[in-house]
Amino acid sequence: MRFISKTVVITGAGAGIGRETARRFAAEGARVISMDTDEAGNGETARLIREQGGICEPVAGDVSSAADVARTFAVAGPVDVLVNNAAAWAGDGWVHTTSEQAWDRVVDVTLKGVFLASREALKSMMARRQGVIVNISSVNALCGVHLAAYSAAKGGILSLTRVMAIQYAPFGIRVNAICPGTILTENSRRYYAEHPGSEAELLALYPGGQFGEPADVANCVLFLASEEAKFFNGSVLVLDGAMSAIQRVPSFLPKAPVDPLA
Ligand SMILES: NC(=O)c1ccc[n+]([C@@H]2O[C@H](COP(=O)([O-])OP(=O)(O)OC[C@H]3O[C@@H](n4cnc5c(N)ncnc54)[C@H](O)[C@@H]3O)[C@@H](O)[C@H]2O)c1
Repeated sequence: MRFISKTVVITGAGAGIGRETARRFAAEGARVISMDTDEAGNGETARLIREQGGICEPVAGDVSSAADVARTFAVAGPVDVLVNNAAAWAGDGWVHTTSEQAWDRVVDVTLKGVFLASREALKSMMARRQGVIVNISSVNALCGVHLAAYSAAKGGILSLTRVMAIQYAPFGIRVNAICPGTILTENSRRYYAEHPGSEAELLALYPGGQFGEPADVANCVLFLASEEAKFFNGSVLVLDGAMSAIQRVPSFLPKAPVDPLA
């Protein structure tokens, strides 16, 4: 129960990683303000939390809208923790085929949304000289994994994380980022089902032969938000089962692990 009487705002909490993170914060005593464009999904998150005896106030809103973000923080009041989790990638891909409209939407939601929500959260955090912001970036920020606008926005989140960490450390505020690799959510399971072969191909990039789960990211978020992580500031935690640690292995190197004792 690390978050009793703490108010936690989570964007994109109507599904996947955001929902699991919301559930975990609520299970540890937090009052959760879940924000999402998807009212039905967000309502389901609130229902699941209340069913487990927790507190959740869902707010329908778009993180790329300053007005929606301000309304969310008006509901929240003073905020202890902000998790910038919402992101978009529709219409994204190669640079030469990405429309200006798709680029703007992806960057507005994925990067500007972090700026807008952080700006609101910082008001009450600075006044109370405490607070934690956790930004969900991606391995796409670290290595070229397609999706031009999304990757650029996720890279921007890491820069913004470092800038905010420096600017607000004197106010007792910590800002960190997490770069997850592939995390199995309802939406990613649906995608793999619709694109036969995609899951196996992606899995081949993971040395341990498995993807992460929403709970893996939630564990990391809760740790960063807790007092145990009081010296983590401006940090980037990579959570990807070593996916981004490997380069392509040259053919002359052993393909299977070699047991030095054999
Ligand atoms: N799942 C993965 O493999 C993976 C890997 C790396 C990083 N991430 C990051 O983790 C975060 C969560 O991803 P997920 O897989 O759980 O996604 P998801 O699609 O399952 O859920 C995202 C939620 O965000 C909401 N959302 C979308 N646009 C919004 C907006 N403009 N305003 C408010 N809410 C909005 C959606 O309605 C949805 O409920 C994202 O930042 C994503 O980039 C995910």
